[in-house]
Amino acid sequence: MTAQFEGKVALVTGAGSGIGRASALAFARRGATVVAVDVALEPAAETVRLIEEEGGKASAVAADVTSAQDVEAMVATAVSRHGGLHIAHNNAGLFARPTPLADTDLASWHRLLGVNLTGVMLSMKYEIAHMREHGGGVIVNASSNIGFHGRRPGMAAYVASKAGVSALTRVAALDHIKDGIRINAVSPGASNTSMSFRPGETEADRDARVAGTVPIGRVAETEEIVAAVQWLASDAASFVVGHDLVADGGMTA
Ligand SMILES: NC(=O)c1ccc[n+]([C@@H]2O[C@H](COP(=O)([O-])OP(=O)(O)OC[C@H]3O[C@@H](n4cnc5c(N)ncnc54)[C@H](O)[C@@H]3O)[C@@H](O)[C@H]2O)c1
Repeated sequence: MTAQFEGKVALVTGAGSGIGRASALAFARRGATVVAVDVALEPAAETVRLIEEEGGKASAVAADVTSAQDVEAMVATAVSRHGGLHIAHNNAGLFARPTPLADTDLASWHRLLGVNLTGVMLSMKYEIAHMREHGGGVIVNASSNIGFHGRRPGMAAYVASKAGVSALTRVAALDHIKDGIRINAVSPGASNTSMSFRPGETEADRDARVAGTVPIGRVAETEEIVAAVQWLASDAASFVVGHDLVADGGMTA
């Protein structure tokens, strides 16, 4: 394992499960000190435990990414505990039960857009505020391949939130590249977390559905999505700015 992120502090939101936990573990394995953030402390603390078990360095922070106060404190805590913030993976996200647009209630719409889109905006706002005063940094946002098409019946809020993240990433990237901050996004397809299940599906149901709809014939393992995040966060992607890297087994090809 290379120590390509040695000396860096990497913050991951939604680090208490799924892709976020895998991302936190991967940054720690490559030498970063990780700040594992989740809306509740326990799952983030469990991620820290897993990192420490492997000999890595990490600490947990509870923050709701829809709260400006929490997000400002999340960045301040990362900096005060670990002396800086160099990498952020704004990964926290919510899925919703499929509901046709006309039956979508405003509170659910706001909740989903609040976490998936405003949460990414707020995270970037406070991360950038620190990074631009301290030599720059790298940000990777969590979008989704289904932000690129509408073939997810009943998922208007989720699809709109992710299309928003992709657009927001491009604008933020151009706003802040001169501050030395490289901002990109990763758009996963169906990945092996609780989010890839439709209501009532077993693993066998999900795998059968995915086999028939995703060209590669299977879901992604979280490490396959994290590999894209790690590449964008690394110096190997030093000329990549405002890009949305789709890792979806050919779904949008
Ligand atoms: N799994 C997939 O199939 C898939 C596909 C495309 C995109 N994504 C995106 O990848 C990201 C990670 O998804 P996942 O599959 O690992 O899901 P997950 O549900 O396992 O993880 C999401 C994490 O975000 C946290 N979170 C939710 N609301 C929060 C809030 N307000 N503040 C802080 N943390 C909050 C949750 O507690 C959870 O730990 C999400 O943005 C998701 O939309 C996932």
